[in-house]
Amino acid sequence: MHENRKFDPKSIDKLNNPERFDRENPDVIWKELGLKEPRVLIDIGAGTGFFAIPFARKSPAIMIYACDLQQEMLDWLEAHIPEDFRNRVKPFKMEESEVSLPDNIADLVYMINLHHELEDRDAMMKEAFRLLKPGGTVMVMDWKKEDMPMGPPVTIRITAEEIVGDIEKAGFREVKQHPVLKFHSMVTGRK
Ligand SMILES: C[S@@+](CC[C@H](N)C(=O)[O-])C[C@H]1O[C@@H](n2cnc3c(N)ncnc32)[C@H](O)[C@@H]1O
Repeated sequence: MHENRKFDPKSIDKLNNPERFDRENPDVIWKELGLKEPRVLIDIGAGTGFFAIPFARKSPAIMIYACDLQQEMLDWLEAHIPEDFRNRVKPFKMEESEVSLPDNIADLVYMINLHHELEDRDAMMKEAFRLLKPGGTVMVMDWKKEDMPMGPPVTIRITAEEIVGDIEKAGFREVKQHPVLKFHSMVTGRK
C-alpha cells in the first residue's frame, strides 16, 4: 500500500464539511450501534474528531481515545477540542497497526473512512480485538465501492463483503452489516 492513500492533512476542511451531517450523521450511527452504557471508546483514524466529539456528548461517563497516525491531525484536534470535553477526548498518537493501550479496555473500537487507507487490514483488526473487552463491539464504516462524486477513488475502496471478511478473520462473532447509510458500508462485530 502506498503512502499516498493516506488522508492529506491539507484537505482537513473536507472532514469538517457540514454536508457530512446528511450522509454520515454521528447520531444515526450512534443509535444504530445500540451500545449499553459504554465507557471507553477508541476511535482509530480520528481525524478532526467529527465522530469523537458527538459520541463523547452521548454520556458524561464516556472517555474516548482519539487515535491517529498523523501528528498534523492530532495537533488540529488538540487545538479544537471544546473546553468541556478536554478531560474525556484524548488525542492519542498511534503507529500503523498499533495502539499502545492495554488489552481488554474498550467497549467500542471504531474506524470510520479509514479501511481503504490501511497498510495491513488484518493487523489492524487483530489490534481492535486485543483492545476490546470481551463482549465489546468493533465497528468499521467506509465508503461504498461505487462511483460517486465524492470520497476516495473507487479503485482503492473496500467492499462491505471484504470488511465482513476482515472482521470475521480477526475472530469477531455476530458480524453484521447495517444498511443505514446511502454512501457508506457499516459493519459491526462482537468480541
Ligand atoms: C479520511 S480520514 C477520516 C477521519 C475520521 N474518521 C472521519 O471520518 O472524519 C482518515 C484518518 O485516518 C488516519 N489514518 C490513516 N491510517 C491510519 C492508521 N493506520 N492508524 C491511525 N490513523 C490512520 C489519517 O491520518 C486520517 O486522519
